[in-house]
Amino acid sequence: MLQTTATLITRMTTGPAQELTLRAPELARALVPGQAVLVKCGWGLEPYLRRTFYPIAVDDETWTLRVPPGSDWGHAWLRAAPVGTPIDCLGPVGVGYLVPLGVRNLLCVGVGELAWTLMPVVTQAAARGLSVALAMEARTPRELIPAQRLTAAVEYHTLTADGRRIESQWAGLLAGEASGAQPGLIAWADVVVAAAPLTFYGQLAAAVKAVRYDISRGFAQVLYPATFLCGSGACQTCVADVAGGRRRVCLRGPVFDLADVVT
Ligand code: FES
Repeated sequence: MLQTTATLITRMTTGPAQELTLRAPELARALVPGQAVLVKCGWGLEPYLRRTFYPIAVDDETWTLRVPPGSDWGHAWLRAAPVGTPIDCLGPVGVGYLVPLGVRNLLCVGVGELAWTLMPVVTQAAARGLSVALAMEARTPRELIPAQRLTAAVEYHTLTADGRRIESQWAGLLAGEASGAQPGLIAWADVVVAAAPLTFYGQLAAAVKAVRYDISRGFAQVLYPATFLCGSGACQTCVADVAGGRRRVCLRGPVFDLADVVT
């Protein structure tokens, strides 16, 4: 893990959120999609200044974080920091997504704000020439990732509550229509990566079982959406019941096999 000083180089307002791009070549080159970065949000020396971010874009020189709307004062500091501000970053934290060689069809599944954390894996997989599908749920169409943010090669499926029960929309999209007329995305995928609230993973597991009869290891990787204090295994604040016991998410995750998260 590196501690480095990044420079805020651009700020973009997208709906109610802000996207900040930080120049930190050494850190950017070390980042794997799904890993976290702890960002110090303030000028002082207080120990609790860092906030956890999962990058939404990474290239050789820079990485981008998304500041969601809300009242957190650390996020407020980031929203107000002028371009050119040096920002202390600690990362990468933990284990990210792994899309093995030989995979041809990658299914990405995201819910709400967390779906943005899939953007680096979507971009990298499309650049490798994989067939990529992204399925995203949001409360309203305005909260979806805009289609123009994706490369044309990515097949994009969106779900909003829109009067119909969202669970049945997901079941149809992932596992296929009950009539069998329309196979679901899970039957098409070689590997699934997901970023969603924990409650969604039971639903994902049910769809995987409906198609593949089992949750075989290596098929689906999911982000355990944790926030970290130290990111190095020292403070124990991220301990959770996962992977068969009490585990430090910053060391064993935040990306886990689906089989480790659902019981
Ligand atoms: S964040 Fe400190 S042990 Fe995980």
